[in-house]
Amino acid sequence: LSEIKIALLGLGIVGTGVYSSLLKRKPEIEQLLGKKIRLSGILIKNPAKPRSDFQKAPLYSEFEKILGKEAPDVVIEAIGGIEPAKTYITRSLEAGCHVISANKDLIARHGEELTSLAKARGARFVYEASVGGGIPVLRTLRELLRINKVQHVEGILNGTSNFILSHMRTTGSTFPEALELAQQKGYAEPDPTNDIEGLDAFYKAMVLSKWIYGEQPLWEEAEVKGIGNVRLEEIQLAEQLGLRLKHLVLLDDSLELKVKPVLVDSEHPLYGVEGVDNAVRIQTDLLGCLTLQGPGAGAEATASAIVEDFLSLYETGSVYQDKPAVSEVVHKKQSKEGTT
Ligand code: NDP
Ligand code: HSE
Repeated sequence: LSEIKIALLGLGIVGTGVYSSLLKRKPEIEQLLGKKIRLSGILIKNPAKPRSDFQKAPLYSEFEKILGKEAPDVVIEAIGGIEPAKTYITRSLEAGCHVISANKDLIARHGEELTSLAKARGARFVYEASVGGGIPVLRTLRELLRINKVQHVEGILNGTSNFILSHMRTTGSTFPEALELAQQKGYAEPDPTNDIEGLDAFYKAMVLSKWIYGEQPLWEEAEVKGIGNVRLEEIQLAEQLGLRLKHLVLLDDSLELKVKPVLVDSEHPLYGVEGVDNAVRIQTDLLGCLTLQGPGAGAEATASAIVEDFLSLYETGSVYQDKPAVSEVVHKKQSKEGTT
């Protein structure tokens, strides 16, 4: 059997999850693909960090060794941040590797450029895990809702914020206590500022907007608020009134974007979305309303989306990523008409 060489950039929460899932599902993946898979190298930053049981692939702290003499077929980026992740992805695509990433900050800013580079090199750049953690949001929109025009999207897109709000409400913990637990569980970013200030959800909304409408709202015009100032007393008072505070993303086909905490009542469809779960409620003209809900962060859920992306690279006939959907076509047509 021929072999697919995979390189992994990053061995933190997500990288470790991907490593474990690839090992755990190796026989099934190989059967599905009809090819062997091999981890050719893992990039880390700190070689002195103690790590348990990673003998199955060489660890490198220099990116050059990842590309090596013969580049891998697939590079999975789980480093985070803009640089050096962008340079490593660019160099991997230039070398003809397919790239999978979970890096919403980078994709929100440079996704178009990296996708164009991938196409030019006959490679693919896929990033399901960048929006909604383990929930297959992007693929559902692109593969299963192609003739639907998406009118608006309402969602919970930051697992850390939702976890903190749920945990404070159900246990009476303070904000710092709940945040610490979210960090211990691997939900929060290494620096949790983007999680609690709404920026992580904002970047995901930007990725989603580009995906659905082919364009992003003007960044400076979006309303962005996080949960950083929320106090336990407010959550408890809301609870007494039958309300819950939810950190929501609201995006519509006029490219209006709001990212903010909202008090919702028990009739609201996202009222019961608790813990680390994310949810995306998609309103379309033909289907009506569809809600996708599931774990929005964490090692295994994120690895699930990444390994599914990996399989999609080798599926023939998959339209994922390659073709626009009706929402994008309609939106671009309307934008063009509006400007003539
Ligand atoms: P971690 O901080 O846990 O892991 C980052 C990894 O990248 C570490 O192994 C680190 O090396 C390595 N790394 C960092 N900088 C460099 C560098 N300059 N060169 C080489 N290696 C480097 O982050 P996460 O795993 O939580 O997140 C990774 C990405 O996945 C981010 O983009 C994040 O937003 C995204 N994501 C995270 C989710 C989650 O639930 N945590 C869910 C969905 C997406 P070392 O081990 O040596 O320090
Ligand atoms: N820190 C992010 C969150 C990870 O809490 O949602 C998933 O993107």
